[in-house]
Amino acid sequence: MDRPNQTKKAQPGKLNGVRGMNDVLPADEPLWRRFEDAVAGAMRAYGYSQIRTPIVEHTRLFVRGIGEVTDIVEKEMYSFTDSLNGEDLTLRPENTAGVVRATIEHNLLYDGPKRLWYAGPMFRHERPQKGRYRQFHQVGAEALGMAGPDADAEVILLCQRLWDELGLTGVRLEINSLGASHERRAHREALVAYFEAHRDVLDAEAQRRLHSNPLRILDTKNPAMQALAEQAPRLIDFLGPESLAHFERLQSLLRSQNLPFRINPRLVRGLDYYNLTVFEWVADIGGTPLTVCGGGRYDPLIEMLGGKPAPACGFAVGVERVLELMRAVGHGTAEPQCEVYVVHQGDETLEAALQASERLRDAGLDVILHCGGGSFKSQFRRADASGARLAVIVGSDELARGEASVKWLRAGESGAGGPQRSVPLDRLAELVVEAIVANDNHPGEPEQ
Ligand code: HAM
Repeated sequence: MDRPNQTKKAQPGKLNGVRGMNDVLPADEPLWRRFEDAVAGAMRAYGYSQIRTPIVEHTRLFVRGIGEVTDIVEKEMYSFTDSLNGEDLTLRPENTAGVVRATIEHNLLYDGPKRLWYAGPMFRHERPQKGRYRQFHQVGAEALGMAGPDADAEVILLCQRLWDELGLTGVRLEINSLGASHERRAHREALVAYFEAHRDVLDAEAQRRLHSNPLRILDTKNPAMQALAEQAPRLIDFLGPESLAHFERLQSLLRSQNLPFRINPRLVRGLDYYNLTVFEWVADIGGTPLTVCGGGRYDPLIEMLGGKPAPACGFAVGVERVLELMRAVGHGTAEPQCEVYVVHQGDETLEAALQASERLRDAGLDVILHCGGGSFKSQFRRADASGARLAVIVGSDELARGEASVKWLRAGESGAGGPQRSVPLDRLAELVVEAIVANDNHPGEPEQ
């Protein structure tokens, strides 16, 4: 069955969300939280601090930062002119440029390197399909001010730790080196000459790219061009000793940590700011290999955006894609909405039930107070559906005696299926906490 989120069909007269932009429904919330907790833990473990930048930036930031002849800037940006002041603005398609902009603007590197991370929605006008949306989420990390392969290795290890923490075993690392700009220039000339010699095999997209961005032709998905791309001059053969040493040291560092990887000479990434190390983590989603995380070194970017030259590297994880992997390994089963569900006998017991719920919350418990009336039977149905461990029942007769009842709800807990137990209302919270602690310490033992 489709998840509710994915059954978006336009119906006349009905307002739907924008195509390719999804609601995260409450049923998916436990999965998101599990992911977000793991990310926050991993970032803390590597000394990263969170930064939150605006969703809207000046269009020129992305044109300058990502590159004019990239897919993103050419055709995927949600750009508009602010009708009030005429500024050209864009919904961020990625956040490396934004983080670098903020780093320069607030002079964050004044006292040395910084490790920053972020999470949030990004926007690209792509054709929506599984794992590809127009609003999607990224979690990213940027290590700013560090030049060596040690920083590259560490951001890669951070990703591996995240996959481990989430129990994801099928995420494969691919790496490559894009060298320095003069090495890319020499390679580019060789590449253009090679593709020109095979013009007849190039599709329309590749012909268009031949002089603007020939490196991207290597990325082609066109089966008829695979052999051509495969045999094209390899950038790695144009790398000088410094670039090669950087790449080789990264590899030896990864090996020293037993982190398997594959060198993919055709890995070029879709953004223009990269140099030296680039990497992608790839996993099969519904039988198709998809990149769940991409990154690399982008030493030229800070200067390109007007800052004092400083090296940097980082990555961004595609959250929706990782959540899909988490679902496949069984994460994300519905979580209980509360620990205690309070049922009561209508208006004359309502004030006592409200009071009891507040005292239970004071004691640190998550409580749902039944609202909207109904028979005890229907209230208990709601209590069961909530996933609560215990029901507290506030009935008129017991209330007259200053008591309420407590009943275990879930099978497998001590007392489950047993009778309700009456407790004095003024000791309710204390006794409920005691019962839960006793049950956690000795699960399955009959209640005293
Ligand atoms: P990117 O490769 O464009 O890199 O995006 C990173 C990840 O975001 C992709 O690997 C993919 O998982 C996810 N992603 C991208 N587009 C979509 C989409 N339309 N729908 C769903 N998921 C998507 C960057 O954005 C760079 N800023 C990464 C980086 C950070 N490099 C250095 N630092």
